[in-house]
Amino acid sequence: MTSQNNRAQFVTRMGAIATAVGSAVGLGNIWRFPYEAGTHGGGAFMLCYIFFIIILGIPVLCAEFAIGRATRANEIKAFEKLAPKTKWYFAGYIGVLASILILSFYSVVAGWTMEFFLSSLIGSLPADTAHLHSHFDSFISGDTRPLIWTLVFLAVNFIVLSRGVEKGIEKVSNIMMPMMFVLLIVFCFNSLLLPGASEGLAFLFRPDFSMIDSRTLLSAMGQAFFSLSLGLGCMLTYGSYFPDKTKLGRSAATTALLDTTVAILAGIIIFPAVFAYGISPQAGPTLVFETLPAIFINMPGGIVWAPLFFFLLFLASITSTISMSEISIAWLTEELKLSRKKATSVTIATAMVLGSLCALSFGSLSGFKIAGLTVFDLFDYLSSNILLPVGGMLVSIFAGWVMDRKLLRRQLSSDSGGGKKARMLGLVIFLLKWVAPIAIGLILLDSVGVI
Ligand code: PHE
Repeated sequence: MTSQNNRAQFVTRMGAIATAVGSAVGLGNIWRFPYEAGTHGGGAFMLCYIFFIIILGIPVLCAEFAIGRATRANEIKAFEKLAPKTKWYFAGYIGVLASILILSFYSVVAGWTMEFFLSSLIGSLPADTAHLHSHFDSFISGDTRPLIWTLVFLAVNFIVLSRGVEKGIEKVSNIMMPMMFVLLIVFCFNSLLLPGASEGLAFLFRPDFSMIDSRTLLSAMGQAFFSLSLGLGCMLTYGSYFPDKTKLGRSAATTALLDTTVAILAGIIIFPAVFAYGISPQAGPTLVFETLPAIFINMPGGIVWAPLFFFLLFLASITSTISMSEISIAWLTEELKLSRKKATSVTIATAMVLGSLCALSFGSLSGFKIAGLTVFDLFDYLSSNILLPVGGMLVSIFAGWVMDRKLLRRQLSSDSGGGKKARMLGLVIFLLKWVAPIAIGLILLDSVGVI
């Protein structure tokens, strides 16, 4: 997928959307969204999150797709091609850094899904919620197993990536995505029948406006970027493989809609259970892993649901990690001229070292804090709340102010037959030019206490 002279393209419109959705839908929706919503006021967070998806997410996604397809290059080359002799390519390096940080902590959580898959398969997950909590606690603080799973998950990535079997991944995600949807809907119905359902739904859907402060805004914005895989050049790279006939605006809207739906479904599954089983919504990164098994165990036929779900979650994770690894692999192969195998080894080896630190953050390194955060939390915070929004801001400024307007319009206007669609295009350009840079800038400044 990365070689320049022999650049591959996704063949069908469906294939292009499926890979973008494959990158977007992952742990960000099912693991990160519920815990971020839980720690930042539920409904208030949800409202801000959806608002940012609409005013920032969709326009930046359009811009990344357009820059990618207009240049058909990796992200650093793409900026160089569109703005030669400037320092814009630097935005590409931010993306490479963010992708490695995310890959490192993401692999730890993906490792947890593998542990849960296995233990639910062999029936060793405790059957009551009280024991689940201590079971999970002793698992993540136990160092060895989380560490091994992180390394195993990254090794699986290595095998897939170095063989370049994206075709297989594409096929798998075509089957897996619909299956995941069906399962989520089944779980939703189950959760809605729990005794805590109305309390859980109120927590998620009834915003308490007094909870909206700069931390809520920053986290909701970070979550919007993280969940749509934006701000690090992932969607830009995928855009560079899109066929000419793909309608970029429509693909961006479809990707955002599906991605947000999965996050909301996850919220509808988790929060009723959180209240039904007396788990704190503020539990943080461990929330989903303490809640989900309790749901499955209490469902008829629980033996099947849990392994099936954790297996799908593992697959959803790997379609996301592949897309983030691809960023630095593309950079190392195309810019530093490393072979694909070497580039993959360097990327995965770096993630293994950093990922080990993240895996131990819940055990022997839990006392090791930088700026009050463990390595795991620091990587998550730095990438999602700082680097991705900064990357997104640069992309929107670039598309709105630097990139040739006609070129941008041509990329995005394949869908506009005039009238309503042309107005939509005007709106997207306005959001990119004015709203996104100013909004992101203000929130970032606010979060560091400058304003
Ligand atoms: N969007 C992915 C998810 O929600 C995570 C991701 C972030 C993937 C950045 C690629 C790049 O799980």
